[in-house]
Amino acid sequence: MRRKIIAGNWKMNKTPSETVTLINELKPLVATEDADVVFCVPAISLTTAIEAAKGSNINIGAENMYFEENGAFTGEIAPNMLTDIGVKYVIIGHSERREYFAETDETVNKKVLKAFEHGITPIVCCGESLAQREQGVTIDFIRTQIKIAFVNVTAEQAKTAVIAYEPIWAIGTGKVATTEQAQEVCAAIRVCISEIYDEATAAAIRIQYGGSVSAASAAELFSQPDIDGGLVGGASLKPDFGKIVNYK
Ligand code: G3P
Repeated sequence: MRRKIIAGNWKMNKTPSETVTLINELKPLVATEDADVVFCVPAISLTTAIEAAKGSNINIGAENMYFEENGAFTGEIAPNMLTDIGVKYVIIGHSERREYFAETDETVNKKVLKAFEHGITPIVCCGESLAQREQGVTIDFIRTQIKIAFVNVTAEQAKTAVIAYEPIWAIGTGKVATTEQAQEVCAAIRVCISEIYDEATAAAIRIQYGGSVSAASAAELFSQPDIDGGLVGGASLKPDFGKIVNYK
């Protein structure tokens, strides 16, 4: 049985001081032994968040990192800077990074490899646009994203990875994918992983759904056979996140 993983993606929200307030508010609400809980926060708040989350079940993750070790890359953050302060997870290839910061399947792959090299668990994002869904190319598109993201990743590494399926049309729109749509794509991702690797790897890898997850939709989504939790944006900044984490 795969352990559920429910992560918040704070995106570009909350200052470091607001981070302390919010973590203190959410700490008792997200307490659970049934799932891994991750808060992915802006880079400037990582140290503060780790300090504020001490003694709780909250793991802190980054929202991005660079694929080089160090050097002349103004404004970027290296993997060993994350591990040095105790960051355990990193979101890679979120659709907002692909859209606004020119990330490609190839840079996603470089970052995924680098995260594993440094012992950071990548939350690898994939997802189709509304136009792609309407054209009926969703599964093909996502299979391509996954195949490229996992180039040169070993089966042992892949088993520990997290994939987040986030249909772009459902992000921040309040338009959550139907349970059937989310399950269908998450199942297809698992098939893709079994083709790249084997059944054991496909059975171990955790696949989240992301896109307007709310306290109302979490239980049905997370009880699907191939959905192992969620990557939550807006609702992760509110007390509702406690209800999402304790969705049962
Ligand atoms: O990474 C989480 C995400 O993109 C979904 O955002 O606000 O629709 O839950 P939201």
